[in-house]
Order: sequence, then structure tokens, then C-alpha cells
Amino acid sequence: MAVLVTGGAGYIGSHTVVALHESGRRVVVVDDFSNSSPAAVDALQRLVGGSLVFAPVDVTDPDAVDRLFVDHDIDAVIHFAAFKAVAESTEQPLRYYRNNLDATVTVTEAMVAHGVRRMVFSSSATVYGEPERVPVDETFPTGATNPYGWTKFVGEQILRDASAAHGLDVVLLRYFNPVGAHPSGEIGEDPAGIPNNLVPYVMQVAVGRLDHLRVFGGDYDTHDGTAIRDYIHVVDLAEGHVAALDALDAGLTGCEVVNLGTGVGSTVLEVVEAAGRAVGHAIPYEIVDRRPGDVERIWADVRRAESVLGWRATRGLDEMLADHWRWQRTHPQGYATPAPVA
Ligand code: UFG
Repeated sequence: MAVLVTGGAGYIGSHTVVALHESGRRVVVVDDFSNSSPAAVDALQRLVGGSLVFAPVDVTDPDAVDRLFVDHDIDAVIHFAAFKAVAESTEQPLRYYRNNLDATVTVTEAMVAHGVRRMVFSSSATVYGEPERVPVDETFPTGATNPYGWTKFVGEQILRDASAAHGLDVVLLRYFNPVGAHPSGEIGEDPAGIPNNLVPYVMQVAVGRLDHLRVFGGDYDTHDGTAIRDYIHVVDLAEGHVAALDALDAGLTGCEVVNLGTGVGSTVLEVVEAAGRAVGHAIPYEIVDRRPGDVERIWADVRRAESVLGWRATRGLDEMLADHWRWQRTHPQGYATPAPVA
């Protein structure tokens, strides 16, 4: 039996593929490379001894998805494949709704048609918006402030309804802020264009692709005036997916929602300082206006992850930045970096 991983060449997907392999599972990876690189699949094959089955499939294509279930003995799905840029989603909402919701419906329909019951879904803490208090637990009110966020909110609802109607067993994972890379330095985050997210931006400053970081907002009501997030090592996050599959294998039924975070909040400046320690020199920055739509503070209540999945994050901020830096230092242009001459 195998686990189908949609979007398995992406940042979180690729790290999860490695963790699944380490857990002894067979993995079928699909990706259409719309926001990822074939070089990620090559790197994955090196990390897992060539054991992956890979199919270049767009999961909004019902016939292609159906064929995956016919051709492979799939007993669970981890569904990552989605567009994920917040600002782009406000400029191209229909493209985001079409792609992200179509993918979720298409994959779920194929599961129902082929009698596959287990699904782990890639959701986001973005569904909490600006929380009334921290830490946020899974019972907090949800919504969205941009089309990307709505695709996660509606994606969760699609799976809740499909679980109730068709007996699927689903874990909805709400990610906080993933950073870091596999300690091998072989796979990592490779955003297209100028990064939107903090750590990829900082790392491109560190390798000289960008001049300096702009810190969005220095007047928040926090101890250093910058906004607080719950940064989680991508390998911890990947292991959270394996824990979710383990829980489903052990008999978890229905539709569960679980936060994946560390339970610890860090300010932007604390991340910048940790990056400086990892890189070996201070990261130049200036404090500018707040970014519209940003929340002041959010971090996860991790108790449900511990009780339902028996999982908790173990890696701290310094390890995240050190691992992210190893990847960026050896891949200054991401997967497009030429291989070193032997
Ligand atoms: N930040 C900067 N400068 C930058 C980039 C980010 O100061 O160049 C700050 C942001 O203002 C924020 C913090 O760093 O305070 C983290 O920002 P990210 O963009 O890295 O992360 P977000 O928390 O804004 O975004 C994350 C996910 C999204 C999700 C969003 C909504 O990456 O997928 O949470 O909560 F939609």
C-alpha cells in the first residue's frame, strides 16, 4: 500500500515525503511543477534511495487523478497541492478558487470512487485571522481575509462534509509558520520571484540576492514592537503529517482538526537575530510601515496535537535558521543553482 502525496515536490510536501519514507511507507508523489521544480524530485530520489514513484499530474484533471488510483495501491492521501501566495490571491481570486478548490474536490471524489478513506489536508493558521487571545486552539472562530485563506477555509469544509457523507477519515492540519530545511541541505524552500515570507527573504539578503530586509511594523504592542508568529521547523511539520497518518492507521475516525505549531511565539526581530547567528553576521534591516492584513500576534495551542496525534515539535528557532541557511548557502539560486564542479 502507498500514500499519495499531491504537491509532493513543494516545500512542505518534499519534507513530508522524506518523513514518510523514513516511517517505512511507500510514496507516490504527484506534482505539476506549477510552483516547484523537477530538481526537487531528483533530490528526493537521492534522499530516499530512488524509491519514489513520481507522476507529473495536475490534480485538477479528474481522468489523470483517477488513473493514479487505478495504477497504484493507494490507501491514504496527503493533499498539499495548492497555490499559496496571499497577495497574488487577491489579484487573481478566480485562479485561486479554481485551482485550490478544484484540486480538493477532484482528489476527494477519486478517493470516494476508489474506496480510499484516509486523508490528511494541508490547511493554515490563516483561518484564525486576528485571534481574540493567544494561544489559539482548534475551537477558535475561523474565517479568512483573502482568497487564499478562503480556499483553505472552504477546503476544510469540503472535507468535513465529505467525511460525514462518505465516511472518510480526515485530519485537517492547520500549519503555523514553517521554516528551515532538511539537515542534509538537499531540499528546501525555493520561492519563485521575490519572497513574500520572512525567512526566505532574510536568507536571500544573507546570500546577497537582496539588499536588506524591510521589517513590516515596529509599533506593535509586543516587547520589541514587531509582530509575533509561531515558527515551526519544516521537519517537525513533516513528522506531524506522519503522526496524523499513524493516528488514522490506529483507528482515528471522522474529521479532526489539529494545529501544527510549537506553542512558542517569536518576534520578527528575534528571527532576524537568530538568522544572524546562523549566518555569522548581522542581517541588515530597516523598520517600515505595517503590512496590510498582518495580525499582531499568533501562536498555537499544541495540546490537541499532543493528545490526538501524540506529536510535538522538538526543534527550536536556532536549529530552524541553521538548517535553512545550510540549504540557502549551498543553493543560493534554489534548485536552479548549478551543481558544483567535481
Ligand atoms: N515580515 C517582514 N518582512 C518581510 C516579510 C515578512 O517584516 O519581508 C514579517 C511579517 O510582517 C510578519 C512576519 O514577518 O510579521 C511573518 O511573515 P510571513 O509572511 O513569513 O508569514 P505570515 O505569518 O504573514 O504568513 C503566514 C503564511 C501564509 C498565511 C499567513 C496568514 O506564510 O501562508 O501566515 O496568517 F496565509
